[in-house]
Amino acid sequence: MIFKRHIVTAALPYANGGLHIGHLAGCYLPADIYVRYLRSKGEDVLFVCGSDEHGVPITIKAKKEGITPLQVVDKYHKLMGDSFEGFGISFDIYSRTSSAVHEQTASDFFKTLYDKKIFTEEITQQYFDVKAGQFLADRYIVGTCPKCGNENAYGDQCENCGSTLSPTELINPRSTLSGEKPVLRDTRNWFLPLDKMQPGIETYIESHKDWKANVYGQCKSWLNQGLQARAMTRDLDWGVKVPVQGAEGKVLYVWFDAPIGYISATKDYFNRQTVKARKGSWELYWKDKETRLVHFIGKDNIVFHCIIFPAMLMAHGDYILADNVPANEFLNLEGNKISTSRNWAVWLHDYLSDFEGKQDVLRYMLCANAPETKDNDFTWKDFQARNNNELVAILGNFINRTLVLTNNYYSGKVPAVGELNEQDRLVLEEIRKFPKRISDSLDQFRFREALGELMNLARLGNKYLADNEPWKISESNPERVKTILNISLQVSANLSILMEPFLPFSAKKLCDMLNIDQLKWNDTARTDLMTADHQIGKVSLLYDKIEDEAVVVQIKKLEDAKKMNELSTLKQVSAAKADISFEDFSKIDIRIGTILEAERVPKTDKLLKLKIDTGIDVRTVVSGIAGFYDPAKIIGQQVSVLVNLAPRKIKGIESQGMILMGENLNAELCFVAPVKPVENGSNVS
Ligand code: MF3
Ligand code: ZN
Repeated sequence: MIFKRHIVTAALPYANGGLHIGHLAGCYLPADIYVRYLRSKGEDVLFVCGSDEHGVPITIKAKKEGITPLQVVDKYHKLMGDSFEGFGISFDIYSRTSSAVHEQTASDFFKTLYDKKIFTEEITQQYFDVKAGQFLADRYIVGTCPKCGNENAYGDQCENCGSTLSPTELINPRSTLSGEKPVLRDTRNWFLPLDKMQPGIETYIESHKDWKANVYGQCKSWLNQGLQARAMTRDLDWGVKVPVQGAEGKVLYVWFDAPIGYISATKDYFNRQTVKARKGSWELYWKDKETRLVHFIGKDNIVFHCIIFPAMLMAHGDYILADNVPANEFLNLEGNKISTSRNWAVWLHDYLSDFEGKQDVLRYMLCANAPETKDNDFTWKDFQARNNNELVAILGNFINRTLVLTNNYYSGKVPAVGELNEQDRLVLEEIRKFPKRISDSLDQFRFREALGELMNLARLGNKYLADNEPWKISESNPERVKTILNISLQVSANLSILMEPFLPFSAKKLCDMLNIDQLKWNDTARTDLMTADHQIGKVSLLYDKIEDEAVVVQIKKLEDAKKMNELSTLKQVSAAKADISFEDFSKIDIRIGTILEAERVPKTDKLLKLKIDTGIDVRTVVSGIAGFYDPAKIIGQQVSVLVNLAPRKIKGIESQGMILMGENLNAELCFVAPVKPVENGSNVS
């Protein structure tokens, strides 16, 4: 199938936090490389993205930060947009799902399906948090995953095994709002009957055996398990209102509204186009069969883009379906899963300020090490090595030697090519082969391989210079040197084109040094790009070395994050108990007393038998503190004693009260005592 135009989407990131290297490596960088490549080839391509601003992740964040959901999305929409721009992710539009155009588009989409009677309307029992007074959808509820036993699976998805779940499948469900066990209540919702739609989806997936193995494989396994109807509405107040009667207090499921965000982003693009830079309309990009739709996503989004969204589009009827869904696996960091909540991440906004002007180094690293077929690991040592041994030593070195010699020998004027020898011919022939090698890989979404080929071209150039050593023959054979440098300059010009999708900042810099405009893919494979006598520009280093200190700082940041986590995850502070009245409280009689005698209770590890002067009387109290206090050392110690606790027998001894103990997060106990001595029998109230 020959397509006339492309629409490329990158998953809309949730506007509930910053972006990290995992986001970039998984989705946005490959999408950007691909789009830049298509543009360079002169294809008509529209690249859309935006912030995903609905759903529970947003409201949870708002609660945590003590601000409104709208404040959350405004803050992170800006932060994410800036990070994308900082790394040169070249969206034609970065829109957002809280926009009016999106609300309208999503609402109309739902209405169309509703009017076509696609949905089934069902009253089901959903979990309700009585304390918080609301239903618990998606991430408002956690519990044990029925498939893998992960104790912190969400109501919609288990992040450990990737299963999609519904809250009622969770074992031991708990509300993330109050920590309480929720109750079931009846509620009405609208379901997309994926079970009935399975045959259509199957045909669609089967017509795309060419998809990446990880993507096709996951789709097959979903289909094998049998699709199930899925609720497309939620009992929440943050989101796009369900546009039908009797749906007050309900919004569209975030995974219903978010992918429609791709369509509204396209509308947003055309609405904003004041000068008509692009012909056509949003509809051309979504409804014309000659448009090719490609979704770039991370692997946790596969089912939504390959099954649910296509099912929605098919049900609607007016739209094209994705021709490809290149999904990457996950990137780990220094051997551990990236985690936003544990701050185990390299944040893009931090990188931009710590490594100013080095955006391409991270782009290079994340592409060379992309989790294309399996999860991969990012380490700072590797980052440093890739910069120093590859970008500096191969690509940068070749360019620098070529340009410096051109300056030294010819005052920066391109020398004319002379008679060619065997090696010259071979190199020229190779130059002509590289573009196809790289585009073959890119066409198959093999970005690492493509980048490897790009570096091979730089290696070829380096070897050519090393073999011919023009610096040694500049006096003895000046004619030969002209040819060598002319050819090296042709390699450089080809590099400036081929590297642009991967390393756009460096490509720009290289073009400036060569004093040429950014050329396009169709100009590659030519060996006359640098014409004789053309004056090159000012020369500087394309890349410089990254010293140990710079990466040590980054590693230290991660170590600090780890320490903070160890401290905070030892034990959670327990939730507050239910309120009691003052009357209840005043029934409690606590006095200060003094320990007169203390001895271990035989055959127990924990218990001490204490004799205490409570001011009222002298009584026996058995207390589980042997692990924390040596009986010999606590004689004379003042303590707080609950004196009106009904006596009970412990190991055969009648305990007439209870000593109050403080317990820290490590479950270590200590006495709760007055800060200065007081009379025995003094009240604690
Ligand atoms: N916000 C989702 C995530 O971060 C991705 C949404 S993709 C789209 O996992 F379909 F909404 F566009
Ligand atoms: Zn699981």
